[in-house]
Amino acid sequence: MSFTEEQLRAALSSVSYPGFRRDILSFGLVKEVAVDGHDVKVQLVLSTSDSKIPGQLRSEIEKALTAVSGVEKVTVLIDLQAPVAAPSAGPIPLAGIRHVIAVASGKGGVGKSTVAVNLAIALQQAGAAVGLCDCDLYGPSVALMCGAKERPRANEQDQIIPVERHGIKLMSMGLLLEEEAPAVLRGPMVTRYTQQFLRQVAWGQLDYLILDLPPGTGDIQLTIVQTIPLSGAILVTTPQEVALLDVRKAASMFQKTNVPILGIVENMSYFISSEDGKHHAIFGTGGGAREAERLGVPLLGEIPIEPAIGHSGDAGAPFLISSVSSEASSVLRKIAKQFSVIISEKN
Ligand SMILES: Nc1ncnc2c1ncn2[C@@H]1O[C@H](COP(=O)(O)OP(=O)(O)OP(=O)(O)O)[C@@H](O)[C@H]1O
Ligand SMILES: [Mg+2]
Repeated sequence: MSFTEEQLRAALSSVSYPGFRRDILSFGLVKEVAVDGHDVKVQLVLSTSDSKIPGQLRSEIEKALTAVSGVEKVTVLIDLQAPVAAPSAGPIPLAGIRHVIAVASGKGGVGKSTVAVNLAIALQQAGAAVGLCDCDLYGPSVALMCGAKERPRANEQDQIIPVERHGIKLMSMGLLLEEEAPAVLRGPMVTRYTQQFLRQVAWGQLDYLILDLPPGTGDIQLTIVQTIPLSGAILVTTPQEVALLDVRKAASMFQKTNVPILGIVENMSYFISSEDGKHHAIFGTGGGAREAERLGVPLLGEIPIEPAIGHSGDAGAPFLISSVSSEASSVLRKIAKQFSVIISEKN
């Protein structure tokens, strides 16, 4: 054998899961790599309903490994398991919920949680039953933004009872973790934890369950799109090119997993001068609109930079509750209205 195990690992870690930035190795999909002379045998475990993915991965793995000098024959064995949330896999975990909506972005800090919280409030104020779930294991920002501090309790069925604030039901994965847990949760553990979490919350009857996703396209996002059927995703971006580049990756993840993209929200689009009321596009203009056009989805709104948005988050009172009339609040309400129209047309 003229090649090392390290070279094989390096080659495998250059193969990403279709639609994701993460590689198959760090996703924990490679079960075994066996070497016999110049021949390499790789065993993969996949759980996907997309029939194109196994073949795609097989040919990429073959390509990557045969490029390692000394490797002659590559065999890829694929153990295809049924997706966890397939309707035939048992009880439907999110019964009673009409629409599950993901709020996502490629880049961090663009305003997903702000959009998710205020969309939830606007829908609740319009009469809907709304749940809001922070799916970021590492930072429970939704709970903070809504001023929820208590630890959730469990019911007799061992389900977690969501906390109620401002008329919406709230839950955060982060609220349930012990302090040291996030650092040790990686790959397959994150997957298991996320699946378990999604099934174990007693949401009751909801019109909308809004999922505030962590940024990017990692384990948590992959698990969510594979575990529960989403009605759609809203992508949040800022006007900068870096954020737009990343939002394309998030869009591609949803497209590859057959989750409809309902629209784009551009946040921090402009600053309104307190002196003359003029709009100043600090980060450039039209990026969100161009991206929406490229994806063939509506631009749901362009939210201005308003310092009160940041203050309301810190104070634990959602912006739409603490600041009833402002330009940003009317844009946020318009986004919720447009969203309701789009989702009702899907029914
Ligand atoms: N339009 C805005 N004007 C002023 N401040 C804003 C605006 N939108 C968001 N913020 C502030 O910017 C910060 C980041 O927003 P937020 O937490 O909603 O982003 P995020 O995309 O959820 O971040 P993460 O990727 O960390 O989850 C927060 O402090 C928030 O209050
Ligand atoms: Mg967030």
